Amino acid sequence: MIIAVDGPTASGKGTIAKRLAAHFGVPCLDTGLLYRAVGRQVAINGGDPDNEKDALAACDFPDALMEDDILRTEDSGGLASRVSVHPAVREALFKRQRAFAEQPGGAVLDGRDIGTVIAPDADVKLFITASVQSRARRRWLEMVDKKLDHEEEIPLSEIEKDVVARDARDINRRDAPLKAASDAMVIDTTSFDREQAFELVLEAVQEALGKT
Ligand code: DC
Repeated sequence: MIIAVDGPTASGKGTIAKRLAAHFGVPCLDTGLLYRAVGRQVAINGGDPDNEKDALAACDFPDALMEDDILRTEDSGGLASRVSVHPAVREALFKRQRAFAEQPGGAVLDGRDIGTVIAPDADVKLFITASVQSRARRRWLEMVDKKLDHEEEIPLSEIEKDVVARDARDINRRDAPLKAASDAMVIDTTSFDREQAFELVLEAVQEALGKT
């Protein structure tokens, strides 16, 4: 069983994917972390994230980088978004994601192109979205609450601008742009809290799997 969870930045798809994986007892892969690791490795190498060769060279990042909290910063998210436009980077990361999706017990993967490119054969495809304002606010609250960011506190208006820029880059890139698969269930969580959003999603997934 493969469950694909796609959606824009800060839509809550990561939390939903982890909870679905726990519910069904299968592993979960946050594919955004792979792109974040590549983006961070480009910076470590002193390369340019907009240069395809530099970005491809960074796909060789050490596994330990995936555990580094620095990947959760806004800065790493921005770098990830920039390296993710390069077809060579997407191709280099494809095998790893596909192997994860194909493991015998099933898997949940969250990202931008899981339902369209990585696992078009997924049993359930979700596209989780929410308004720009609510996504920016959630991201800001998360940063303030958990002090996840290694940077200075960033004003909400800056986060909102960043969300808009990230959406534009993710939606407009030529290769595997962010979009809902034609057979995905689109779920807008703008007016729901985390718990309500998860309940809604779980119900939809169970129905799709015929397990209600
Ligand atoms: O989900 P996230 O914010 O961690 O993702 C960071 C960036 O990585 C995002 O702006 C685009 C890129 N990404 C992608 O292109 N494809 C994926 N499957 C996951 C992330």
